[in-house]
Amino acid sequence: MNEPNPIVVLKFGGTSVSNLSRWQQILTIVQQRLKQGLRVIIVHSAKSGITNLLEKFAQNLDAALITEIKTSLHQLAKELNVKAQINTQIDKLHQFSQKDTLDAYEIAQVLSFGELMTSLIAYDYLSTQLTLEKLNPKNIFISHTDDNRALATRILSAKCHIKPIELESQCAIMPGFIAADTKGNTVVLGRGGSDTSACSLAVAVNAKRVEIWTDVHGIFSANPHVVPTACLIEKIGYEEAREIAASGGKVLHPRCILPAEQNNIPIHIYNTQDAKAHGTIIKKGYESTSPRVRAINVRHKITLVSMDSMNMWHQAGFMGKIFAVYEKLGLSIDIVVTAQTNVTISLDIADNIISPIILEELHQMLSEFCEVKIIKNCSAVTLVGYRMRALLGEIAPIISSFAEQRIYLTSQSSNDLNTSIVVDEDQADKLQIALHDGLIATHGNQYGFGATWEQLITKQGQKMNKKPTWWQENKDKLIALAQQNSPCYVYHLDTIVYQINQLKKLTSIDKMFFAMKSNSNPEVLKTIHANGVGLEMVSPGEINRVENTLSGIQKDDLLFTPNFAPIQEYQLALDKGLHVTIDNKFILEQYPDVFANQSLILRLDPGHGSGHHKYVRTAGEHSKFGIHHSELVEIKQFCDQHNITIKGLHSHAGSGILEHQNWDRILAYLTEQMQIFTDVTIINMGGGYGITENPYEKGLDMLKLNAIISRYKKQFPKVQFWMEPGRYLVANAGVLLAKVTQTKVKGNSGYIGLETGMNSLIRPALYSAWHNIVNLSKSDKTPEITATIVGPMCETGDILGVDRKLPQTDAGDVFLIANSGAYGFSMASRYNLREPAQEIIFE
Ligand code: LLP
Repeated sequence: MNEPNPIVVLKFGGTSVSNLSRWQQILTIVQQRLKQGLRVIIVHSAKSGITNLLEKFAQNLDAALITEIKTSLHQLAKELNVKAQINTQIDKLHQFSQKDTLDAYEIAQVLSFGELMTSLIAYDYLSTQLTLEKLNPKNIFISHTDDNRALATRILSAKCHIKPIELESQCAIMPGFIAADTKGNTVVLGRGGSDTSACSLAVAVNAKRVEIWTDVHGIFSANPHVVPTACLIEKIGYEEAREIAASGGKVLHPRCILPAEQNNIPIHIYNTQDAKAHGTIIKKGYESTSPRVRAINVRHKITLVSMDSMNMWHQAGFMGKIFAVYEKLGLSIDIVVTAQTNVTISLDIADNIISPIILEELHQMLSEFCEVKIIKNCSAVTLVGYRMRALLGEIAPIISSFAEQRIYLTSQSSNDLNTSIVVDEDQADKLQIALHDGLIATHGNQYGFGATWEQLITKQGQKMNKKPTWWQENKDKLIALAQQNSPCYVYHLDTIVYQINQLKKLTSIDKMFFAMKSNSNPEVLKTIHANGVGLEMVSPGEINRVENTLSGIQKDDLLFTPNFAPIQEYQLALDKGLHVTIDNKFILEQYPDVFANQSLILRLDPGHGSGHHKYVRTAGEHSKFGIHHSELVEIKQFCDQHNITIKGLHSHAGSGILEHQNWDRILAYLTEQMQIFTDVTIINMGGGYGITENPYEKGLDMLKLNAIISRYKKQFPKVQFWMEPGRYLVANAGVLLAKVTQTKVKGNSGYIGLETGMNSLIRPALYSAWHNIVNLSKSDKTPEITATIVGPMCETGDILGVDRKLPQTDAGDVFLIANSGAYGFSMASRYNLREPAQEIIFE
């Protein structure tokens, strides 16, 4: 009898199953494998975005979410030209929406629908081209009965064994993430569930390999969004791959590697969008054999607990007592370091629910044994590699250059595969870059890493015909402009119009106000207003600028949002008839006469800030902006007494935000407060819409943002929804041009000096902001040198970019600093009595 063909398990993640072109790609991959004489099992996730919506639905049972889910899946079915046979699941969701809450089994059922419904559509599509068998995961993955974790955890993060299966055809499809308990109830596998399904299934059918198809090329030596020179790890052993996954590498969940490892099944990771590119192969025999660093990862939102006690010295049982406290609170400890009179441990948010109440309880319980200090908002930077102790000599000098920053702890794992350094959250990326440059970038080829993320993406971008930027298209003109006018900011008005039109696609927004603090150039303001956008102002200076530039502007297009300003400014704006936003109870109570009988907007603090740096997060207790929740009822009473109408509610949580969920949170909060402020007809969701700083970052998902706003608009059809974008409209429409003055080499560090620095663009110095920097005069030459780009100011922080790879550079070359149209000139200063760069409009 002939041996049956070997089996390969192909797993496709959420974005890989989201539209027609991805499914065409899947079909090609499957057909290729079949042609190679392999049998194929496809395991897939839910279409991207669906699981998030289902999670939210399971929490609030809001029927509006069902429409969003249905629309998204119908869209997929329409693209694939099949009927979406998903009524059973949608009806069940409607039934659930009638309930007050769901139990864990019902939540599991809701969550499973994402994979299930995607699978029904996928099966119909694939079976027009292939003979395909359906596998029911509930008949294959059965949860353990001897699991002693909490019931909800057993149901929502189930550990399973697998029933043996026989494939009847050459090709089969199975939704990942789903399993059953011994009674046949639906349970789910938790985070990274579909990867675990694929790897476990591969073990059950003794597959030749598992292929994980995702939207990145494989495992990289660092987070490419922070370190674009991160290299693809082409080959790696299981244990190191597991360490990378556990220390913050996002590509695979650590849990899925173990079953493959125990059964010696190779895992291949590939990019669905670049199917022919090399990926990562995890396999026995690919282990490192000499000391080397393989990857540097960062985990944010780490909480440290430092416990001091003289009593622990030479005392038996101290550790036992304190660890018992963590066990009692269900907190799982990540790193532990001990000294004679101190034990410090770290808690990772990925493994724990760390609420203020739990921390308070922890503090109280531990205080019985020791002095306790809790340090929040840290990040663990972890170096993963082989025989890390042997590399300490190389690592130490890089860390010591961070000596001025706080290093809370360093730790060495007992298996010698990782070293972790815990620092303040805003230092982590810098440390990651420095360690990567020092330990990996310089040794790249020697250690057998593959191409860098930059190289791979550029190639992919060329294949995808990524559009060049306006300044790339106009390089020669810009060089000529700089010869006459540098240092200068150059603004491209067509790009501003393009960006406005992008935001106009948010169909439920009734009115936009441009936050002119980001750029108050008169021509820029004229262009923005001519395209139907109002102005948001914060000072009399900005009001003057608008009045002098846009003489006929309607009062209704002007919004004044001051903060801790003198009372005269509020009076001025009210006298002029502008919309006025108040963000403090104090000022209302102190000056009731100014505000009596007025219609006002209140700026509320939604309790949680976001943004690219802690200085731009404008919500939460540590920010000076917005009114605290506890004061709202009192303010309402005060307003009623003084005949003040609260016509609108406003929130702005921060700047440079790329997660659409931010505005879901804001809108949920603001609309909820309409129960207190019943006259509200305006909800202003603020600004903060981020732009990508480099071509490798994922931008804000406008489609998802639109879906969110539309959901609230549907719920509150009479309310006007406003927004106040700043950066989004102008950042990439502006560049800073400056000529090279001098170059210098000092030891291992190279410097390139420009005519202007932090006096023109303070963002890198103030927020460590990353701006792409290009030597325009040599843009066709290959990068050969690494240098820090500095200005002529008397400050060590006068830096525009650190350790940039650039072509050989000469004095007089024209440098371009990209994306500097927002908060560039508007934040410039005359420090050192040096005039900042002048502003020019690109003709
Ligand atoms: N609305 C309010 C009330 C604001 O305070 C701001 C910005 C905006 C809207 C516009 O935010 P945008 O869409 O531009 O993110 N200098 C920092 C940004 C500070 C933002 C201050 N407020 C930077 O260069 O990143």
